[in-house]
Amino acid sequence: MQNFAIVTFGCQMNQHDSDRIGEVLRAAGLSEVPDPEAADFVLLNTCSVREKAEQKLRSEVGRLGVLKRERPGLIIGVAGCVAQQEGEKLLKKMPQIDLMIGPDNIPELPAMLRECEAGGPPRVRAEFDVDAPSFLAHDLQHAPTSGPATTAFVTVMKGCNERCSFCIVPYTRGPERYRPAREILDEIAGLTRVGVREVTLLGQTVNSYTDPEAAFGPSARHATGDWRHTERQRAESDESEFPALLSAIAERAPNLARLRYTSPHPRHLTRSLIRAHAELNVLCRHVHMPVQSGSDRMLRRMIRRYTVAEYLERVTALTEAVAGLTLSTDIIVGFPGESRSDFEQTLDLVERAKFMSVFGFKYSPRPFTPALKLADDVSEEEKSSRLAELFFVSNAIRHRHLNSLCGNEITVLVEGRNKGGQWGGRSERNEIVHFSSDFELTGRLVKVRIQSANKNSLLAELAEAIDDAPRALPAVAAKPQRHLPLSPV
Ligand code: 5AD
Repeated sequence: MQNFAIVTFGCQMNQHDSDRIGEVLRAAGLSEVPDPEAADFVLLNTCSVREKAEQKLRSEVGRLGVLKRERPGLIIGVAGCVAQQEGEKLLKKMPQIDLMIGPDNIPELPAMLRECEAGGPPRVRAEFDVDAPSFLAHDLQHAPTSGPATTAFVTVMKGCNERCSFCIVPYTRGPERYRPAREILDEIAGLTRVGVREVTLLGQTVNSYTDPEAAFGPSARHATGDWRHTERQRAESDESEFPALLSAIAERAPNLARLRYTSPHPRHLTRSLIRAHAELNVLCRHVHMPVQSGSDRMLRRMIRRYTVAEYLERVTALTEAVAGLTLSTDIIVGFPGESRSDFEQTLDLVERAKFMSVFGFKYSPRPFTPALKLADDVSEEEKSSRLAELFFVSNAIRHRHLNSLCGNEITVLVEGRNKGGQWGGRSERNEIVHFSSDFELTGRLVKVRIQSANKNSLLAELAEAIDDAPRALPAVAAKPQRHLPLSPV
């Protein structure tokens, strides 16, 4: 077997896992091909958070099964949440699959492949590493050869101890396990040495972070809870060591230009986290804070452990502490029992919180989850129409926001060229910006002047490059580039 292809479904966590799986396979001597049709081994890295993602997997396996009839040597693997959740059951239903591997077993993949090649039977490895958790880190030696990336994900925790009634994650990713701060800091330092400028910390409830090696000491967790809507005892249990981790990263990775995190839980948006946002320049002025619903009745049924007033009080404190900070969110429509009035309260919250982006989903019942006991009583048609209405409202808010930026100068971290040849990057506040330039700008912070707003992004012209950002490895350019004269930082 010589080469592999990975097809990824789902969230950032899955994309991160796919990137690390690629490194494990390259370290085992395989090379990556972009086209699954040309690969000896195709790995489908799956997501089961909503039913649609799972259906996509089934049709993809069917398609590859046809290919396998022509090329019996083709090995089909399934990784990720569906592998964890379905295991042997899926193997019986889909005999085209040769191996299934859960998120905690990825280092075992090369050995499983060798067994498969030697004619071994289909196998499933999907066990949580609860007693001795390990975390997939970047293997810079086996990264893709297309040059250093500008942005990178770094895992700080995995699993989830919340029991939101709609969510399958606790069953596919296991209980919360935290990565030692020491390892996180080392990985970030290594990434900045090869030119990474922006790191996004990853975890299912990323802001519940606590260092398993207790490096931050007891003072890191002190409660400063003076919330109007949350009783003191509960506010204290919401404290974590996430703010201390952010401060440690800011101090120990001075070359890092930007730090983000995803996804936080609103109850861990504490006074200390808000203070970290106000004090740490490296923290971007954008937070994705899933709210799920604007109705207290629905939030209780979802077991979210906060009310709309608590959510609003906390995000308002955050936006007051950090001028201009933008918010985005996740919302589920058509949760069991959601009435028209519950949904209208959600629309009202979207307006009040002025979310710059809303990721909206129609409720889909998932295996093992507590909400299965509730009747899925909002019709499919009604779910679709509520979702369309939600997007209509949130698109209008985004449109207003993006239009209000026209004529302004903003700083963009350039991530690369888009298909049309324009440069693309994001502002600190997570606005997507495109502009033209003949200069090689990957990984550079540049100042641009906003000219117009599209539906989801901004069009701009280059004003100036504002930093030099020496890159350890030369960025790969399609054609020789001129170099931009730099103004001092
Ligand atoms: N149905 C619909 N959406 C869901 N999500 C999680 N579980 C479900 C479900 N059963 C959404 C939530 C979560 C996002 C990642 O996916 O909004 O924040």
